[in-house]
Amino acid sequence: MKIIVANWKMNGGVDLADEFIEEINTITSPNTIVVCPPAVLISRFGNFSHRVGAQNCFCEENGAFTGENSPKLLKEAGCKYVILGHSERRSIFCEDDELIFKKWKAAVAQDLIPIVCIGEKIEDRDNWKETISRQLDFFLDDCPLGDTIFAYEPVWSIGTGLIPTEEKIETIFAFIKELLGDEAPLLYGGSVTSENAQRILACQNVDGFLVGGASLKIDEFKKIVAFGAVFNH
Ligand code: 13P
Repeated sequence: MKIIVANWKMNGGVDLADEFIEEINTITSPNTIVVCPPAVLISRFGNFSHRVGAQNCFCEENGAFTGENSPKLLKEAGCKYVILGHSERRSIFCEDDELIFKKWKAAVAQDLIPIVCIGEKIEDRDNWKETISRQLDFFLDDCPLGDTIFAYEPVWSIGTGLIPTEEKIETIFAFIKELLGDEAPLLYGGSVTSENAQRILACQNVDGFLVGGASLKIDEFKKIVAFGAVFNH
């Protein structure tokens, strides 16, 4: 079974949400399908027959944190998952590993399944081991990971059309699995399309995808989900 997550980022709208629900609700798939729309659209997904997630949450349940989204309220709004530590959160909103770990704890306390993103920037491409080890450090210290999902998204691959070779993906995924153990699912993210989905999914240890741009094109997303059903290793 594969996990295919759509990360709409700050895109989409009511019309796309309604069309996406109608189309994706027709899919019966052994895969876990998750859509993470912008927070203001989450309530629109009340009749979605798959799973809904948020793209971020704050590390506190409530309080004077203007503009933030409470993990408790996300749960109440129908989310089962929450993406944490996306590279856009790390770079644009200056989130560091410690804050991301606090958010992880707050999400787990609400029974949300965190999807923790890791991955190196272009300038660290040769030092990916150091970057990944540092980003995972908080999660390795006798930390019960529960249902936590991780997503390896090389920053240089996001929205660029560039993807690592299959050999590189297998090397990096083996390294991450060795750190985290076999239990935690590990997704690939970065320029996933219906053109490359099949060969990336065939890579050892790839448990699914975190899809950005291609998840906004419903036919494209459906094709990616269909490939997931083929690879049930
Ligand atoms: P793209 O699929 O658009 O490259 O985005 C990947 C991503 O950031 C998903 O979280």
